Amino acid sequence: MKNFLLLILLVSLNISCGVTNEKIQVYMTPSCGCCKKWVSYLKENGFEVESIMLDDMGPIKTKYGVPEGDRSCHTGIINSYFVEGHVPVNDIRELLSKKPDIAGITVPGMPAGQNVPGMETVDTNAEYDVLYVRNDGSTDVWNSYN
Ligand code: CU
Ligand code: CU
Repeated sequence: MKNFLLLILLVSLNISCGVTNEKIQVYMTPSCGCCKKWVSYLKENGFEVESIMLDDMGPIKTKYGVPEGDRSCHTGIINSYFVEGHVPVNDIRELLSKKPDIAGITVPGMPAGQNVPGMETVDTNAEYDVLYVRNDGSTDVWNSYN
């Protein structure tokens, strides 16, 4: 009986994990500390992360259509979208549920603030935008934080 209950518990745990896990590949340079922090943040929020170390990030960003002026440190790839820089998970989830016909979303540069996942190096919040990038490379505001 004990084993049977254990089995049920294990099976149900497995099912709930299968529902919440989203797989994302994250390209980053080995020396980047804030990239690792963002990866930990994704894992804490139920994402399944595959980290891929690169010395030169330029070609990957170009391949996935991250505009040169809107780049950051790491580049995540999920369901063929790019997620560039320190993007909060609720924006990634919104992207996955709305499935817009765009190339990806980005937080250009590296704003520092308590409300920027992986960049909590100062005590205050940052004022920043998450941008979305259309397939032609043009951008607009996806979400704003302050
Ligand atoms: Cu960074
Ligand atoms: Cu990074």
